[in-house]
Amino acid sequence: MERAVIKGRATLNGSVRVEGSKNAVLPILAASILADSPCIIKDVPSLDDVTCMCEVLRSLGGQANPSGPTTLELNGGGIKSTEAPYELVRRMRASFLVMGPLLAKLGRAKISLPGGCAIGARPIDLHLKGFELLGARIAMGDGFVKVSARGLVGNRIYLDFPSVGATENLMMAACLAEGTTFIENAAEEPEIIDLANFLSNMGAVLRGAGTKVIRIDGKKQLCGVEYTVIPDRIEAGTYLVAGAISGGNVLVENVVPEHLKPMIAKLRESGARVEEESATQVRVIGSRRPIAADIKTLPYPGFPTDMQAQMMALMCTAEGTSLVTETVFENRFMHVPEMKRMGAQIKIEGRSAIIRGVPRVWGAPVKATDLRAGAALLLLGLAADGVTDVTGVEHIDRGYSDIVGKIRALGADIKRV
Ligand code: EPZ
Repeated sequence: MERAVIKGRATLNGSVRVEGSKNAVLPILAASILADSPCIIKDVPSLDDVTCMCEVLRSLGGQANPSGPTTLELNGGGIKSTEAPYELVRRMRASFLVMGPLLAKLGRAKISLPGGCAIGARPIDLHLKGFELLGARIAMGDGFVKVSARGLVGNRIYLDFPSVGATENLMMAACLAEGTTFIENAAEEPEIIDLANFLSNMGAVLRGAGTKVIRIDGKKQLCGVEYTVIPDRIEAGTYLVAGAISGGNVLVENVVPEHLKPMIAKLRESGARVEEESATQVRVIGSRRPIAADIKTLPYPGFPTDMQAQMMALMCTAEGTSLVTETVFENRFMHVPEMKRMGAQIKIEGRSAIIRGVPRVWGAPVKATDLRAGAALLLLGLAADGVTDVTGVEHIDRGYSDIVGKIRALGADIKRV
């Protein structure tokens, strides 16, 4: 288990460049299966999850190889296998996103059940219900789920919850279905729009991505294209909080300010100064001590669940008491006991955590349970007196490329051991 060791109280200054979005590139890599000719994907972040998705594509018989530091060359043309192996799906549940494209293009898919993870059961019922409505037959057994169809037929699908993954899987399947599909109560995240833009460039006909109703008119075939992924709004938000929690002055570059609206609003409410310096740059200037602000996570355009732990870190040393409510996942407070080891005063009541801000927290050995909780512990270590030793850095590497190097470049005393 690799560790990150931070010597606290750091004040971060300087600029950091955000990379391509993990949660946009993963469905886009899966969508490359739908074409029979090569795709070139640019601004790909160097993340373990991206490596894993490329392994999944290659295990199916496709090509997925780097053709530059942030460029991938894909080709779904050679895909023959329709079975994603357990050891890859276990490593990364987003592997499940190959189900829609495989079902649409080859008429079947067999994927091991993704299983839960630290933040919740992560069911796939909405994905499967949608596939059935498109004409697929579902069979479950020995830890696998199998779907098959002799050609998908468009239909009207209502999602009980605006699930990001279900919206993505069903969008991809509907692209090659016969006729028109409506996905209602669809997820509206920027990553959904990015996937829709990629699919449209490949020749798919979609309307309404980014709204609650997405219409897809099925086509016979899609072709490979070149595409550049949007910047990662969660990585951007994490570095904005790093600047705020350390009372520093940090310029975050290569961002889409529109995607950061909820984070910017909450940082301003907590007393930080946040300025949009250009169409792709946002500067944060942290206050001496944050002011308590309440957070409630919601599907986009609400406050993102992937930023909940990071904002909670900021609230630990805030003036006043804040209430953090997690409405998207049922178990996304694994960072709370770790933050309490550092002196934070937090009480969990159901889906809410009550944080009574304290003037100081202290460094301690802590454990990263998932990638965002891990990032949040690094952030709290910046504000802590003394040394914070975070184990489980491999969780963090899944969603952040070289976070230790980037924080060190902003002036912190942090190293990997
Ligand atoms: C995506 O996960 C992201 N992952 C997550 O980011 C993110 O937290 C999440 O969306 C919410 O924004 C990727 O894009 C690879 P959901 P996903 O389906 O698609 C329930 C990170 O840190 N649900 O929107 O799995 C589910 O249990 C990761 O980068 C069902 O009940 O999220 C959860 O409570 C973590 N049935 C809620 O919906 C289903 O069939 C949201 O899940 C599907 C989901």
